[in-house]
Amino acid sequence: MACAPSPFCINYPAIMKKLIALAALAGIANMAAAADIVGNPEAANNKVAMCIGCHGIPGYKATFPEVYQVPMIGGQSAKYIESALRAYQKGERKHPSMRGIAAGLSDQDIADVAAYYARQK
Ligand code: HEC
Repeated sequence: MACAPSPFCINYPAIMKKLIALAALAGIANMAAAADIVGNPEAANNKVAMCIGCHGIPGYKATFPEVYQVPMIGGQSAKYIESALRAYQKGERKHPSMRGIAAGLSDQDIADVAAYYARQK
């Protein structure tokens, strides 16, 4: 033993071990938090009301502020829908109406609507 356990003795290897253990714990906690969010398509029923106005129209066109094609999202994979909505939130995707809509969605909302649309054919 190079170092007896006393207040004047700094046991670096032991401190490092504690730090590594703490970091590992924090990592596990993060993963648990992300895994807690499970998309529930039933819960999405009242959340997609506002999406249907644009994404539910046959022909998928919106006319304001100009006529543009609204992409079909029903039947896309949940992962794709989630990452698209996150990209609008972060501003990586620029469409103003979708940015506004995504900004109002919580992580749970995103998981729910993604599960809902992924289930559609
Ligand atoms: C005002 C009309 C409008 C509403 C309301 C709307 N969207 Fe959109 N959405 C669009 C348009 C237009 C695009 C294409 C934007 C672009 O080019 O980036 C789009 C794109 C998307 C995309 C990406 C699709 C792809 O293939 O890349 C997703 C996912 C999406 N919307 C989900 C939703 C959800 C979920 C809601 C409801 C919470 C919603 N949208 C409400 C008009 C709308």
